[in-house]
Amino acid sequence: MKHLILALDVYERERALEIAEETRAYLWAIKVNWPLIIGSGASIIGELKERTGLPIIADLKLADIPNTNRLIARRIFAEGADYIIAHGFVGRDSVRAVMEEGETIVVVEMSHPGAGEFIQPVTDELIALANELRPFGVIAPATRPERIAYIRSRLEEGIKILTPGVGAQGGSAGEALKAGADFIIVGRSIYASDNPRESARKIAEGL
Ligand code: XMP
Repeated sequence: MKHLILALDVYERERALEIAEETRAYLWAIKVNWPLIIGSGASIIGELKERTGLPIIADLKLADIPNTNRLIARRIFAEGADYIIAHGFVGRDSVRAVMEEGETIVVVEMSHPGAGEFIQPVTDELIALANELRPFGVIAPATRPERIAYIRSRLEEGIKILTPGVGAQGGSAGEALKAGADFIIVGRSIYASDNPRESARKIAEGL
């Protein structure tokens, strides 16, 4: 079972395809975020999927009214995305609009220091929302493994935990998995390294 997700936060199409092909043997999925979509267009989703055969997660962190979330999600799933990441704090109706279009992952906490200001205080409510709506998974921070353990203890079985914050942001992949994460998301430590293939191999084999 593979546990590693590559956060492919580069702008250029060629570079993205090159890194994806070099590292795909070690990955469960590839996560595409705004930098790559802005730099290369949404069609990069289908292209990455076709070239690698891997699931594609569109990390758009959707946080709009239900109709706009639906319009965006429909188009991004049509491009070939297998999962979309959406914010939960905008409410059940907005999350449901994405879930009606395809597999959804809900942010319940974030890895950066500012997450302590507004997101962390409502994590319990966001976990309750996930338990009620049962998305594919939730995002929880590898920078705070104790929070992963807390979220795991409250989250219903079968809902996956995907965790960014490993490497460049200081989190440890091993600790995150031990705390209950199902998948580790790594960006800069792979795509910005001198040898992305080797970096991905080392991280994947250490999991
Ligand atoms: P790095 O380069 O830090 O990239 O390994 C991490 C990737 O994951 C995203 N990210 C997050 N997404 N909640 C999220 O929903 C988070 O707490 C979080 N932290 C990082 C980031 O945008 C990048 O694509």
